[in-house]
Parts: sequence; C-alpha cells; structure tokens
Amino acid sequence: MSPQTPQVEVDPVRVVPSEMGRSLERADGVEKVTGRARYAIEQAPSDALHAWLVTSTVARGRVTAVDHSQALAHPGVVAVLDHTTAPRLEESDNAELVILQDAEVGYRGQIVALVLAETSEAAREGAALVGVTYAERPHEAELREDNAVHRPESVNPDLPTDTEEGDVDAALAAAEVVVEETYRTAYESNNPLEPHAVVARWEPDAEGPVLTLHDSTQGVHGVATALAPLLGLEPEQVRVTASYVGGGFGSKGEPHSHEVAAALAARAVPGRWVRLAVTRQQMFAMTGYRTATISKIRLGAHADGVLTAIEHHALEQTSRIREYAEQTATPTRMMYAAPHRRTTHRLARLDVTVPSWMRAPGEMPGMFAHEVAMDDLAIAAGVDPVELRLRNEPETDPETGLPWNDRRLVECLERGAEGFGWSERPSEAGARLDGEWWVGTGVASATYPMMRQPGNQARITALPDGCYAVSIGAVDIGTGARTVLAQIAADALGCPVTTIDLEIADTTLPSATVAGGSSGTSSWGTAIVAAAQQFRADHGPSPDPGVSTTASAAEHRAAQTHAMHSFGAVFAEARVHRLTGEVRVPRLHGVYSVGRVINPRTARSQLLGGLVMGLSAALLEESWRDPRFGHFVTQDLATYHVATHADVQDLRADWLEEDDQLATPMGSRGIGEIGIVGTSAAVLNAVRHAVGIPLRQIPVTPDQLVGALPGS
Ligand code: MOS
Repeated sequence: MSPQTPQVEVDPVRVVPSEMGRSLERADGVEKVTGRARYAIEQAPSDALHAWLVTSTVARGRVTAVDHSQALAHPGVVAVLDHTTAPRLEESDNAELVILQDAEVGYRGQIVALVLAETSEAAREGAALVGVTYAERPHEAELREDNAVHRPESVNPDLPTDTEEGDVDAALAAAEVVVEETYRTAYESNNPLEPHAVVARWEPDAEGPVLTLHDSTQGVHGVATALAPLLGLEPEQVRVTASYVGGGFGSKGEPHSHEVAAALAARAVPGRWVRLAVTRQQMFAMTGYRTATISKIRLGAHADGVLTAIEHHALEQTSRIREYAEQTATPTRMMYAAPHRRTTHRLARLDVTVPSWMRAPGEMPGMFAHEVAMDDLAIAAGVDPVELRLRNEPETDPETGLPWNDRRLVECLERGAEGFGWSERPSEAGARLDGEWWVGTGVASATYPMMRQPGNQARITALPDGCYAVSIGAVDIGTGARTVLAQIAADALGCPVTTIDLEIADTTLPSATVAGGSSGTSSWGTAIVAAAQQFRADHGPSPDPGVSTTASAAEHRAAQTHAMHSFGAVFAEARVHRLTGEVRVPRLHGVYSVGRVINPRTARSQLLGGLVMGLSAALLEESWRDPRFGHFVTQDLATYHVATHADVQDLRADWLEEDDQLATPMGSRGIGEIGIVGTSAAVLNAVRHAVGIPLRQIPVTPDQLVGALPGS
C-alpha cells in the first residue's frame, strides 16, 4: 500500500432506496452466454508459442537424464526446457514453485520438463517424445493413523495446532453418555469448469512490466507478489490480469507450479507470447486438492445430551516438499458449548503433490466429522438431533470467550426445521419404506468465519457524463463480484448502479486480496465504500470530471472484540434403494445467517453451489490414490464423479434478514463457502436415518450399503 493512500474510518452504507438487495442480473452475463467473455487462454495471440508440460512418472527420486533429441526433431518444436536448460530462479522456501532447478523429484506428476512449439499438437507430441530417465527412491503415499504423527507449527491459515481447556479425560470418565468414534473424509480434487491456464510474455527491455501474465487466478496481486521474488523482479514488474475466470474453489487461490513454468518458458523466448493450458488430468497432480481426513472424536454429555467434553484429533496428510496443514478441528473449537475441550492436528508427510485450499478447507471435513458425531450423540442420548444442537448453544465463543457478532444458529435451525417439516420425522431409524426405497431425514449445522482482509484499496474517478469509474484489482471467479461491487459502489456514492463503470482484475489497478476465504466482497466492498466516502469528502456531491480518490479502509477493529462467524442449518432427505444401495437426495434445504445479502440472485447461486458440492462430496467425490505409485488414478471426470443435474432435485437456500455492521459497512459477511459446510453431514445423517446403519465416512457409496441394508 502506498504511504499516501488514506485509511478511512468507514461509516455504514445507508442509502434508501438502495441498489444493495436487488436481484440484478450479472453484469457480465451476456458476455458469458454469448462466448464473448475472454478467458485466460483466449488472451493468447494467434502467433503465440504453445507450452506442454512433461511430468514425472515416479513418486520420488532423481532425474538422471533428459533426452531432447527426438522432441527437437519433431516439426514445430522450438525448445525443450529441463532442469539443466531452464532459466534460473531465486531461492525460495516454497518448493512447490521451485521447478526445473534441480534433478529432485518429490511427487508423481511434478513438472520435469516442458516443450515449446508452434502449435498445441506439436507441443504435446514433443512432450511425449522427451525421454526422461529416473533413479527411483522408495516413497510413502498412504495416509494411515500410524503415520500421521508430525505436529505442524500451525494450521491453515495461521491458527494454533492444538488447543486444550479443562480436563477432557476426567469429564469423559464422569459423563453419562459417551461417543467415541472415527470419521473419515476422502481426498477431493478441485474441478472448476475452466482448467488452469496462463498466457505469458517476458520483455526484458520494455518500459512496462517485464513479465505479463493473463492468468486464471483468484487473485492477480497475489500471483504477482508470489512470482516476482522467484524471478528476481519487483512486484510492479509483473503484470497479471484475470478478466474472466471459470471457477477456482481455492485451487486458483495461490499460484501453483504451472504459472512458474509459463514464466520460465516466456523468459526462454523473450518478446514472444507463450500459452500454457493445464489439462484436466494434470490438475489432479499440480493444482492442489483437499487432503483426506481421519477425525477421532470423543464427546461426553449428561443424560439430556448437554455436552461436557469435546475432543477432536484430526489426522491428515501433507506433502514432504511443502507443508500444508488443513485446519480440520478448528470449527470444533467454537461450535458448541462444553467446559472441557481438546483439539489436535497431526500430519503424515508423504511423497505426494501438495494439498491446498478447496472450498471451506477445514470447515468442510471438520464439520462433517463433528456433525455426524452429534448425531451419534443424539442417538446415544435419545434426543432429537435439532433439539440436541439447540441444547448445546454457547452464549459466547467457547474458544475465545468473546461475544458473538451475530450468532443466529438457533433461528436457522428452527426456521429450517419448520420449512422442512422436521416434526414429522420418526425418531426411529429405518422406519419408513416407500416402495423400493428407505426414506430418512438428517440435519447438520454449518459455520464459516467472517474475514475482512487488510491490504485492499479502491479508486473512484468522476467521469464526464456524471458516471464514476470504480477501480480495484479484485477478481470475479464466477461469483458475481462484478455485479455486486457495482451495487456497493452505487450505494456508497448515492447514485444508480447504471452510473458505475467498474474496472477489476488487473494488477495495474489498486491492490486487492484473493477471492478466497469468503472474504472477497467483504474486503473489496469495504475498500470501495472507504474510497467512495473519502471521494465525497474530497470532492463533494458534484465533482469535476477527472477528479479521483484512492483510499483503503481502516483496520477492522470489531474483529478483535467479537467472534465473527456465519451460521447455517442444512436439512436433507435421503432415499436408499433397498436392493442396490443407490442413494438419492430428493430434498436439500439450507437456511443461512450470512449478514446482508447484497444480490439475492448471485448469493443464492453461491449457496446452492455449495449445497451441491456438499451433496457431491457425500455421495460421489473421491480422488483415489494408489499408494504403490503415489498419484491419484482417478484423474478425469469419467472416474472422479461430481454431482450433475440428475443428482440434484429440490434444492433450496434461504437466509435471515440481517445487517451486520460489525462485519462490514455493507452489513454483509460472506457466502462463498458456508454452503458446502455441514451439507455432507446432513446427507449422511439422513442416509443413516433411512437405513439404520451407522455410517461415518464419505463418500457413502452403494458398496458400503449393499449387504448391510435392512432385510438383506
Ligand atoms: Mo476458497 S478454498 O478460500 O478459495
């Protein structure tokens, strides 16, 4: 942030009638449905060189030789880069990004060479002709309870690894009801519609940026600041744009090795554009994934289900080359009241690709485990699952003791139960057979932290025609940010949304943080409000065309004094075929408390998408790693199944009316991730209720049910 940028104490946005709250259509809807929206790979000029990646076929070892001769003999091939010929990178502690610098191989699928050619076909054929030989070393690629022993320094993003309060063991010994079980979630891979892609040019003598990247990323400034030091450049010498992005789910939240590969390739052919498209198959090896988790949970309670002790040991895995510790047990720290609590995280360090963010990292697998455990407790105590959650509602944040900003889980549960018809639920499991289908219902709570990132600036400029240019380097990854930020700017300036000309997604614009952690709208929107209020203070209601103000918001002090979270309640109906074990989910309803909803149309889409992804995780998604070879063998959409239209039936997302001024001046909190949280647990709890079988892992697939079904 430049020192002269004013930091503004932001007032609430209170303009009536308001653009916020309107279901505006997406500002870029027409561009997208007519195919005019240009995604990263489409930014390449027709004479761009094509890069194709060569990736390791061993899980651990050394490259002993790379034979370029056949590849270079192939028509159209221009160059082959390997660790002996690629441009040098600066030292870095991020071993995921340091590629083609030495012969070491840390995981199967790691970039070991790349081919540049005049056409995509020649590049691909050339890559197949590069002869790589390896000296293989023994590897370990399987997560087990006995090898998850490494204690990380902290867990994502920078949270305590372990927490302890009271005496869990004594409380469990004294408890009238005890649950002690293990819950498992599968490896999952991010599969945004648009695979990762980047178009790069290196111009050492240019007056402008040395490196230009048109990238498919969730954060342009983040890419520039991560790549610049590796390349020996200042961040200002790296320009990154991301005009349209077809989803990310976290996999585009931080740069991965393919972006470095594109930069190295471009540096090898100065002045020429290089285009690099990551294939769907390569994504499973190089753009992050959700670690599998093993959650060992113990709950102690009084006979009425009121918790006295909560313990959650999360076992998961990281890559030996770079540590990533998923914060699986962190929602357990704040979700329910209990005087005695313990959480830990331990990792198996494996010779595998680097895990990373996937929609609600931590909350998604952690709340799955905790919310299925809550149903175990409900069954053990003979208490209705909704009632059990109501009885364990904490007055203040159990982890920090701070007051809540606006915890309204009880209203979500009650309103959801009412709308879903929960009161008609039989208390017995396996009680309803409708034709060939066992029918059950389940519930789970959802939560997600509210985050507003520092380091955002926005610029407001008066245009000649009474309109305003609003500029910020934020990225719309398909969420609707382009639409919503204009609505926020309009209300903050007190003018119609049609007068707002929004510019985003370029590092030449004021700095913006990642479209991640459900923090985008909160962070960027607050900066826009700050800039608008400062603009009015500077220039009044009738500014001269051309005048401009850049500002950022002052520190978010309420985040120090309040526990800031969003909440939700998810209700599912499951039907299980009595002979085949096929599971269908005819109804999936979520009720959320997420602060003010700025655009119901785009917000509902986020929440529904999260619900679908949670359903998909419950029934379908699994990246299946073969430990003998160390890679995910499911590496396309034929073998890695995601929910499609036929899997989704009656899906609903509702929310409470709110205006959370402690969170942001817009009153909003963030909606990108909470939809996936708890959803898999609600589905699994419904399946358990349908068939009366204790199930504690996802995905739950027919093979786990067949043979165990009632009557079989
Ligand atoms: Mo999201 S996993 O924070 O991009």
